[in-house]
Amino acid sequence: MRIGLFDSGIGGFTVLKKAIELCPNNSFIYLADTARLPYGVKTTNEIMKFAEEISSWFNCQNIDAFLVACNTTNAIALEVLKNNLDAPVFDLIGSVASTIQESRVGVLATPSTVKTKAYTNAILEFKPKTFVIEQPCPEFVPMIEMDKINFNDITDVATDYLQPLLKQKIHSLILGCSHYPLITPSLTEILPSSVKLIDPAEALSLKLKLFVDSKTSNYLKKKKLVDLKFYVTSNLKDFPNKAKHWLNVFPEVNLVSLQKKGWVS
Ligand code: DGL
Repeated sequence: MRIGLFDSGIGGFTVLKKAIELCPNNSFIYLADTARLPYGVKTTNEIMKFAEEISSWFNCQNIDAFLVACNTTNAIALEVLKNNLDAPVFDLIGSVASTIQESRVGVLATPSTVKTKAYTNAILEFKPKTFVIEQPCPEFVPMIEMDKINFNDITDVATDYLQPLLKQKIHSLILGCSHYPLITPSLTEILPSSVKLIDPAEALSLKLKLFVDSKTSNYLKKKKLVDLKFYVTSNLKDFPNKAKHWLNVFPEVNLVSLQKKGWVS
């Protein structure tokens, strides 16, 4: 199967990794809209427009499934993606919301995601009595993209973001931006061990696996078909190194313009 996924930058690597782990014998097409990163401080109108362009581009890539590997777009423009894309759409927020067991939940996310309260609303739909507190973390994505993520760099910022959530005695913490699992080691240093860390990519990948297994014959499941294609909208030179660092692959990366129509797959 050909599975498409996108993020503003390297955050979607965390989703790609989990998806490959659970659905290894497939082709993945990863689009990073690096020219417009970060998404997490953009307006609703901007994100809706990006979602339209991204879905038009993926409709020319012959995909069988699409993963929304960006929470900000998930929170703001899921309907745009679902309405425009020809392939079934798997999202992070919807996938994880139904799996939450704890009664006091914290969410770290981008400012634009927090504004929508998408996590709170999605969780309350399944467990109406849950206490949910969302914390915007504007500094994380630029720091992660610039690889300023050693413990010294990130601790003060992360401690500030986590303080209000810990005061509320949360039992679990959702990493509501796909970039954040990349700083899990620093977060776990700060968090009490009683707080369970939740990466929504796991719930999404489980849903994807059910779908892929239902559509794939046993013969194909046994074949190793993994093929990775990467596309960016800028910073063509940096991206292979980032993929090498986080995914241990050194891929060929292609530059695309999302505004241009008539792409070939
Ligand atoms: N990784 C994306 C998210 O999950 C976008 C982050 C950003 O570009 O600000 O929200």
